[in-house]
Amino acid sequence: MTPSCAVLFVCLGNICRSPLAEAAFRQEAKKRGWDIKIDSAGLGGWHIGDPPDVRAIREAKKQNIDITHYRGRKVSTQDFTQFTHIVAMDNENLSRLRALSPQNSTAHIALLMDYVPNKAGQEIADPYYGNEKDFDRTWEQVHEGAIALADHLEKQS
Ligand code: 4NP
Repeated sequence: MTPSCAVLFVCLGNICRSPLAEAAFRQEAKKRGWDIKIDSAGLGGWHIGDPPDVRAIREAKKQNIDITHYRGRKVSTQDFTQFTHIVAMDNENLSRLRALSPQNSTAHIALLMDYVPNKAGQEIADPYYGNEKDFDRTWEQVHEGAIALADHLEKQS
């Protein structure tokens, strides 16, 4: 059964971590046969309208996922009522999301790794100034997080 939820993944630039988290979660939702709203956004506005970072595109391609059509966008006030779950990559994202959260927000805001048993509070490090190994590590983490989040939503529904 498809859970009644809509999930937004958030990082700083919306070109590295959150597009990879979106890709991993879309893959997981597809495996489970779910038809739900999934998106990603950034807290900064530098990459609005841009495709993901070439290294993130390459990482997704290694997993047989095409993310070249993804486009960067900034988190908006409406996101807090249009998504049931807003999922941050690090603590800085989390506190900025909480600060932006309007009074009528209905979204549950948490770190992606909060959904992974024994990994609550862990962050997904920004690979922007890193290398291919860092992007491999990002994929491992968002993939683990995506599966755990899907398990959580399945239990909730
Ligand atoms: P992300 O990485 O938050 O994982 O997308 C970044 C990408 C770009 C910038 C910062 C972080 N930037 O400053 O442009």
